[in-house]
Amino acid sequence: MKNVKTFKKMKKDGQKIVMVTAYDYPSGKYVQSADVDILLVGDSLGMVILGYEDTLKVTLKDIIHHTKAARRGADDTFIVADMPFMSYHLSIEETKENAALLITEGGANAVKLEGGKPSRLEAIRAIVDCEIPVVAHLGLTPQSIHLLGGYKVQGKKEAGSIEILTQAKEIEKAGAFMLVLEGIPEELGRKISVELSIPTIGIGAGRFTDGQVLVYHDILGMADLKPKFVKSYAQLNKDIPDIIKKFTKEVKDGKFPAVENIYNPIK
Ligand code: KIV
Repeated sequence: MKNVKTFKKMKKDGQKIVMVTAYDYPSGKYVQSADVDILLVGDSLGMVILGYEDTLKVTLKDIIHHTKAARRGADDTFIVADMPFMSYHLSIEETKENAALLITEGGANAVKLEGGKPSRLEAIRAIVDCEIPVVAHLGLTPQSIHLLGGYKVQGKKEAGSIEILTQAKEIEKAGAFMLVLEGIPEELGRKISVELSIPTIGIGAGRFTDGQVLVYHDILGMADLKPKFVKSYAQLNKDIPDIIKKFTKEVKDGKFPAVENIYNPIK
């Protein structure tokens, strides 16, 4: 299984790192069989699996449940589990306990949390102190949408861009081994990736990050929305209903089950 050292070396060697989300046994199995470097059990599961309008209602129990399932499908892949909203905000003790549960119960290899202000840096340091690898996440951080005023590209103005770059450097110092950069201009993504020694993984952060991450359902064309940074390699949101319609029609027309689908068919 790849590990934090592999990812560091991949950055050094200029090899792109691929991260894909997965949330259950089949998606875990497909992501592993596609040789993806890192599987992320993202809190995006709140939207693409549970049908919430944002990620804020996702609980630690949800993430543990889905991480366990993804792990059953991907036994040999490095798994990062998202720390959900309010699971690392209240106290350092609770933060450490919650991070540990994602590892011991969920079966993850690392955890991810959003933000780079001083309290987040403290959380990163505390979790790393428990020997748990941490991925940080800056830019458009979906757990902060109400404060950000929606899903908007971050760091477009100079002050915002300097703040994100400064936080990225602090995150590296705090001990995170990787940084996800979401929804920022390409030049900021490039600059952070050049200035940090830890790998950066972009989503809507341009071409020059050390790797890319996309949500499983976006790659497969299963999500309701398609932001600019998404490329869908299939249109399953059309194919799946078409396939189920075919089954429905065959049942209604008396074509299913056919003789080959029947035990001891009546002659
Ligand atoms: O929850 C998630 O899927 C994420 C990725 C979009 C990076 O955080």
